[in-house]
Amino acid sequence: MDSFLIKGGVPLHGEVTISGAKNAVLPIMAATLLTPDPCLIRRVPHLSDVRFMGQILTWLGAKVSYEADTVRVESKKIKGHGDYDLVRKMRGSICIMGPLLGRLRKARVSLPGGCIIGARPINLHLKAFAALGAKIVIEGGYVQATAKRLIGAPMFLGGRAGSTVLGTANALMAAVLAEGVTVIESAACEPEVVDLANFLNAMGAKICGAGSPTVTITGVTALHGAEHEVIPDRIEAATFAIAAGATHGEVTLKGARADHLHAVIDKLHDAGVEVERRGANLVARRNGRLKSADVTTLPYSGYPTDAQAQMMALMTLTPGISIITERIFESRFMHVSELGRLGADIEIEGPTAIVKGGRPLSGAPVMASDLRASAALVIAGLAAKGTTQVNRVYHIDRGYENIDGKLRQLGARIQRIEES
Ligand code: EPU
Repeated sequence: MDSFLIKGGVPLHGEVTISGAKNAVLPIMAATLLTPDPCLIRRVPHLSDVRFMGQILTWLGAKVSYEADTVRVESKKIKGHGDYDLVRKMRGSICIMGPLLGRLRKARVSLPGGCIIGARPINLHLKAFAALGAKIVIEGGYVQATAKRLIGAPMFLGGRAGSTVLGTANALMAAVLAEGVTVIESAACEPEVVDLANFLNAMGAKICGAGSPTVTITGVTALHGAEHEVIPDRIEAATFAIAAGATHGEVTLKGARADHLHAVIDKLHDAGVEVERRGANLVARRNGRLKSADVTTLPYSGYPTDAQAQMMALMTLTPGISIITERIFESRFMHVSELGRLGADIEIEGPTAIVKGGRPLSGAPVMASDLRASAALVIAGLAAKGTTQVNRVYHIDRGYENIDGKLRQLGARIQRIEES
């Protein structure tokens, strides 16, 4: 397993190009299953999760080819069940269920388990399929949805923690080929859902209201091929902005969209890091001393859970007490003990982390436990004195395109140690 060796203490300076959004491209790749025509997706990041999704589509019968940052998918003939192990490997692959049900009226995939950040149930996905008339059976580790006809219907998809991103994506992808009108209430408003709806509309779907809590879908009989450029990754942009603040640097985030980052920009401002628009780019830089802050993760347009760990790394450097409350996933604090190895002082009280910041961090060997936790450890390592070794970086390769190369371009001393 590869690891990163980071020699901390260098302020990041320069420009970084923000890649296409992982959490937009995965459901968009799944949506290509809805048509037998070829689809072209542009600005696709090189990530292990994207390769996994490509493998799943190939297994289902699609032809998938890559050229630079473009993926072409042609799903002339597909089967309705996903390979048990492939689907189980990546939780995001649950979003093949909606398009399989929409196109074939049957879908069978391995039941995704919980993961390190929480239990991650799929009850709301299944509620959406059932509302459209599908019969749901859970058996032998698989979940199966079948329907003779899919009929548009009203549905409420709010859950314990609010809306569901992939649940909304699945509902959209099943409803576009249903008969009649579907209205989703408490739909997820994330930009990744809007990007998916834009792609589906380019394929001939009739979706209105994406980006708001009420989305209306008028079913059509067939979809056709389309081309689409994926939105820039707002979480990658947030991660580099936080890294600029943590290292007292100045980084231009090429192509990042301020309109997707309001909550992050607002909290970084409170914390003493300014993110300003400059032409088509954003520039993140530390504005004097860091200040303690109070962050609660929420569904969009609130502060994103996917940037919580990175913000915590910044808070460990900030004199005073900062409070971070995680409202989306019940156990997304795996980074806390690893940040502790670098000298951070953090206490957990239920869903809240109390960060007593300002003590200098010093390098240590640490273990990445999940994607965003790994990003937090990299940021802390960049700011720490001495050398930090981040082990198990395959987690970070799932969701950040060439993060070590991009950081080196900004002046960071980070080296990938490849396992021989
Ligand atoms: N939930 C339910 N029932 C469901 C579905 C979700 O109770 O049927 C709960 C979850 O347990 C959680 C909350 O609803 O408490 C929100 O989960 P959501 O369904 O929105 O998460 P997701 O769609 O499975 C996507 C991203 C995650 C990101 C979340 C929240 C992808 C591939 N994944 O997951 O990304 O954290 O939305 O924004 O789009 C990451 O990139 O590191 C990552 C984990």
